[in-house]
Amino acid sequence: MSDRSRIVTIDGPAGAGKSTISRLLAKRLGFAFLDTGAMYRAVALAAKRRGVPLDDEGAVAALLNTVDLRLEPVGGGARVFLDGNDVSGEIRTAEMGPAASQVSALAPVRQRLTELQRAIARSGNFVAEGRDMGTVVFPNADWKFYLDASPEERARRRTRQLAEQGEEADYNAILAQIIERDRQDASRALAPLRPAEDAVIIDSSHMSIEQVVEAMLAIVGRSIPIPQQAVEETGNHGR
Ligand code: DC
Repeated sequence: MSDRSRIVTIDGPAGAGKSTISRLLAKRLGFAFLDTGAMYRAVALAAKRRGVPLDDEGAVAALLNTVDLRLEPVGGGARVFLDGNDVSGEIRTAEMGPAASQVSALAPVRQRLTELQRAIARSGNFVAEGRDMGTVVFPNADWKFYLDASPEERARRRTRQLAEQGEEADYNAILAQIIERDRQDASRALAPLRPAEDAVIIDSSHMSIEQVVEAMLAIVGRSIPIPQQAVEETGNHGR
């Protein structure tokens, strides 16, 4: 492999399985994993904590100058720290997804997080996951994927996941939320959700997680050797 950082981008709508798949792919490749949605969620949480309205561009921009946002790698993922406190759990509540989507439409937020994401990626090889990884943040990425699934399938997966966690889950309400978040992420003026022209589009509606990871590895593996150690660690012996 050459000395420069290698980047795989995975973009796509909420609930398409990007986080799970990005984490597994990163592990198999021996790359780090960059969860950019977590950054937008942390900004939304900071705004909520300080009582800053999510649509007030000036106030959110001022807030950005005063918060300390850091990602610290642990295992295959990263912990998110806001002003020194680990907020990795708090940013995952049902409320923070739509809130993150709202602040992510603001220019100062996108600009600041784009800079931060590029700075992080200079430190090594990454699988970067989000909405605008292949289109805006890393237009020269080595491999670009767009992971999609039908809204109905994404709602079914989310309903199942919540039920497994013992939480109440109403399929129709979840489907409506998914459709609304897609609309919000895809219709904004800045860095809207869409596949990069050179992205490989994978529809995971009828694929297992492992099948998606294998499909991606087959593409990446055409140009770089997959580290044997990472293959062995995931218990998958080169199928
Ligand atoms: O992937 P996620 O659900 O954690 O992302 C939360 C929101 O953050 C998403 O609805 C839109 C925004 N986001 C973004 O605009 N750009 C990214 N690269 C990642 C997330």
